[in-house]
Amino acid sequence: MFARNSVIALATFDMEIIIQPTAEAATTRAARVIARLLREKPNAVLGLATGSTPLLLYRELIRMKLDWRKVTTFNLDEYVGLAPTHPQSYHSFMRENLFQHIKISMRNVHIPDGMAKNIPASCENYERKITAAGGIDLQVLGIGTDGHIGFNEPTSSLASRTRIKTLTQQTRRDNARFFGSEADVPHHCITMGIGTIMEARQNLLLAFGPKKARAVAEAVEGPITSINPASMLQMHPATKVCLDKDAASQLQRADYYRWVYDNKPGWQQI
Ligand code: F6R
Repeated sequence: MFARNSVIALATFDMEIIIQPTAEAATTRAARVIARLLREKPNAVLGLATGSTPLLLYRELIRMKLDWRKVTTFNLDEYVGLAPTHPQSYHSFMRENLFQHIKISMRNVHIPDGMAKNIPASCENYERKITAAGGIDLQVLGIGTDGHIGFNEPTSSLASRTRIKTLTQQTRRDNARFFGSEADVPHHCITMGIGTIMEARQNLLLAFGPKKARAVAEAVEGPITSINPASMLQMHPATKVCLDKDAASQLQRADYYRWVYDNKPGWQQI
């Protein structure tokens, strides 16, 4: 269930909370982690996310002109019923915001198939492809206002695998901004499970803005519970949480996390 050994040295066995004044500064930290992975492992397997949060990250990765030729990617999720050409599909999102700007082989790009006729078989196949690729080296994550990671909504099994999931009303309301109206947001999605995410060797969760503050505080400092699926990351041995000050505003121990990050001893700089 937990991360396999990696070719790169991973930081610690604790969640690392990185609080920066702005989303831009937090994104820079996250981009450096990815850039370093791609330098050390040119054929790395990256797990990718969509939504507003990783937009700055993708812009920064494009600007860095990294070598993507041998990189393989797996996206977290896709809406059921949206064809890859649909403007709000995550296929379109990834094409527009990352893939068309980098030199990646589209054979190495994987996104769940929202149009699959046999969804369970397609989900099983997605898991098989992740395994065949050698597992995910680094998974990029956002967090929903309800604590979801991927589209693992509250009460998702903490051991879940890629599957169909029903979106909560809160998530459909949050994502209505991309669709024009809430009625147009699909009710179902295919998402990697929490068990799938937990097998990534490294997780990089980003969250910005005051709307994420509560979900972040519960995920980092609350009990591990399926009511806040991101809280399961407390059990992951190599998760970094990159926050702006607003997303960090409800953390009880923010001063401690800031001090730890600003005073990392040499042995922790790996
Ligand atoms: C998207 C995904 C979701 C989002 C989350 C936050 O692939 O997996 O978990 O990361 O809904 O969305 P934004 O970034 O739009 O606030």
